[in-house]
Parts: sequence; structure tokens; C-alpha cells
Amino acid sequence: MKIIGPDYLVFGVDDRAACDEFLTAFSLTREDLPGGATLYKAADETGLIIRDRDDPDLPAPLPTGAQLRQQVHGVVEQADIDEIEAELSKDREVKRLEDGSIESVDDQGFALKFQVTIRKPISMKSEKINAPGDTPGRGLDEIGVWDDMPTPPRALSHAVLFVPEIKGAEDFYVNRLKFVVTDRMEEVGPFLRPQATRDHHTLFFIRVPDYMQGLEHAAFHMAGPTEVMVAGTRMVNAGFESFWGPGRHKFASNWFWYFKSPMGTNLEFDADMDQHSDDWVPRSLERGAENSQMFLLQHREKWSPGGARPAAKPE
Ligand SMILES: [Fe+2]
Repeated sequence: MKIIGPDYLVFGVDDRAACDEFLTAFSLTREDLPGGATLYKAADETGLIIRDRDDPDLPAPLPTGAQLRQQVHGVVEQADIDEIEAELSKDREVKRLEDGSIESVDDQGFALKFQVTIRKPISMKSEKINAPGDTPGRGLDEIGVWDDMPTPPRALSHAVLFVPEIKGAEDFYVNRLKFVVTDRMEEVGPFLRPQATRDHHTLFFIRVPDYMQGLEHAAFHMAGPTEVMVAGTRMVNAGFESFWGPGRHKFASNWFWYFKSPMGTNLEFDADMDQHSDDWVPRSLERGAENSQMFLLQHREKWSPGGARPAAKPE
């Protein structure tokens, strides 16, 4: 079952204008879709589809009223969809659409769609560094950061779901959709990698009471830590609320910076996630702040040495 990862996350939102302002500031590219939907896409054309909450074309909402309405997973080829259809049809309704994609639900009631992936191959340089002892990553006179450097999100990376029942959620994705557990945060949930990506995870679960079920955050991959910092600083300066970061996770090693979004979830810039072979042995760590990040930085107003006039010498 060659599932690659999320092509789209689909939302039914309360405030389209606020979402447009936030997602534009996040440097996603806007594309109007038929039927009144708007796609905010990364460089590889994966992204977030925004519709009105009461749009009749959306799948039914969760009982919690979460604005996340569907996860669209991209697969390698039509045969993968046929395989998923055969598997899920054993115990639930699977609807086949005209284009060959299928829609169903997982064991927790999250709406799912599977399609031959729409993601486009991209060719963009990652962040390069210079360090003694290794060949310089950048050429002579090639600077590492500049004022108006672009910070385009490159690909929709992962979704983290608030789920009431971790064991059932893990069993569904591992046993039915053949995801692999890469690591585990005890009493919280597993990190899951589908078969057709090497990224550490495209899904993670956090256990919550029923009334909180929904999307905790979604993340987009960036070129490297500098882009995470620059893009995040621009979000702060534009008045958006930082939720967590900047910092670097222990599991997956990815740099992160999360912002509160008007879609009722957090949206993360991330960079430099670990990639894994099929031989990787999952680790397990106790839940807690120490294990959730290697370090966490705090944003503060810009400062300059020598920039402020020295105070008068005390008498
Ligand atoms: Fe994340």
C-alpha cells in the first residue's frame, strides 16, 4: 500500500477572510478552485483546501465541530487505491468517485480520501552551511541570509490528530493502511510513516478526551532552519500568535515553529526531518517537555549592541 502522505487537508471554516490573511502570510500560494473553495499550496502543490463551514460538498463534521473535515492521502498509483478500497470495504462504506479516488472514514470517524498523488516533483536547493572540516556548503560570496529572502513552504509534511483512543487509531493505520511506527511517546501516541515516504512521520496522535477530537497541527517542510526562523519572525512581526517554538524536536530531529491559525489548529514550519529505512527500530520516550524538544528558543524584540544611546554616567 504505497501511501506517500497528505496531498491536502480540507477545512470548513468560520472566517474565510482571516484564513486568507493567515495563510498568505504563511507564504502559501493561493489558487481559487471550482465550487467556491480555495487551495493554499506549497511548492509541490500539496496544501490546505479552505471552504465555508456549511459547504454541502464537505464531508460531515466530527461531533466536536472541528474545522478539519477531510484528510486527502496521496498514493503512488491507482492499484494502491484499489488495494485500500478492498481492505476498507470489509467493514465500512467506501465511496468511489469518478476520477478513481475513494472516500471513507477511519475508526475514529475522521473523513479520509485516497487519490493518486497530485504532488509535483520539485527541484530546490536545501539550506547549505559552511563549517570547518567539511567542504563549504555555499560558494564564495554566496550569503546565507538576506532581508527579502523568500520563504516558500515546499511540501505539506504531516498532520497531528487529537484522538480519544490511541490503541484503536494506531491499529487502524498500522494494520489496515500499513503505516509503520517510527517512534513512540508513551501515554501520548505513535509517530507513523506510510510505506511510500522516508520521512519520520506523516501522522502523529495525541490522546485527548472525546470533546477535543480534531487536528492539533499540520506542518509544512521548509529549506532549513534559517527559513523556519525567518518565516516565523515575519509571522510574529505581522501580529500572528506563536504557539510553540522556534526549537528542534528530539523525535524526527525537525526544527519547528508553530503558529495559532484561524482554522482552529496550529500550523507549523518545519525543516530537516529525519528519514528512515525499513530497518529502523522504534524508540520510546516518556511523555513530557524534556522529551518533546531538544531545545526551545524564545523570540524577543530585535536588539543591537551599541544601538542604544548610553545612559548618562552616574554622578
Ligand atoms: Fe509537527
